[in-house]
Amino acid sequence: MPQTDHLTYRRLGPDDLPVLIAFMTTETWPFHGIPNLSPEQVQGQAERGTYWGEDVESWLIEEAGLTVGFVRLFDLSDSGALFDLRLRAAARGRGLGTAALRWLSGDLFGAYPHLNRIEAHTLVGNLAMRRALLRTGFVQEAYHRQSWRQGEQLLDSVGYALLRSDWASGTVTPIPSGEPERGV
Ligand SMILES: CC(C)(COP(=O)(O)OP(=O)(O)OC[C@H]1O[C@@H](n2cnc3c(N)ncnc32)[C@H](O)[C@@H]1OP(=O)(O)O)[C@@H](O)C(=O)NCCC(=O)NCCS
Repeated sequence: MPQTDHLTYRRLGPDDLPVLIAFMTTETWPFHGIPNLSPEQVQGQAERGTYWGEDVESWLIEEAGLTVGFVRLFDLSDSGALFDLRLRAAARGRGLGTAALRWLSGDLFGAYPHLNRIEAHTLVGNLAMRRALLRTGFVQEAYHRQSWRQGEQLLDSVGYALLRSDWASGTVTPIPSGEPERGV
């Protein structure tokens, strides 16, 4: 895995909307509900509180002064938070996503003592995301068939979570397996 501790993270607020719009609208996001966002869509999302507020934080990921990625942390008042992580196409496949997952896990569990889990949902075909989740201690907890509408298609998706206890101890607790017995 390449060296990735040179990344920096910059928290975004309303004054950063032009930077956010530039990032979101100049890439295609094949594993998101809207692969090609327009400036108006990003602005509308920002006005609806999607990117910053009491329960949500957004950060830019920077490498040598260039914006290479974005991460949004949300549902921060719950015991299980969620996130959205996006790297520019040119920045993918170099270990940055895995590094960002490590950073966000530490940041979230450090800053929010009530937080017990970090959850992630993605499409079955998003192999880079799934490998990065496994690499950082997330465990697959769910397989949802035909659960994710992408245009005309209904695709399968998967759910992962990282427990605070696993993060703190550096262990990976497996999912209990097996069906209940008949009549139980
Ligand atoms: C998903 C994403 C964050 C992963 O970050 P990344 O920097 O590209 O991934 P990494 O370089 O850290 O690689 C993580 C693992 O995935 C593997 N991988 C990377 N790109 C891959 C690809 N295109 N296909 C299959 N595996 C891939 C790596 O080999 C590595 O596996 P390993 O740990 O077993 O060696 C990034 O690709 C991205 O932003 N994609 C577009 C947006 C997106 O899909 N976000 C997630 C939405 S839920």
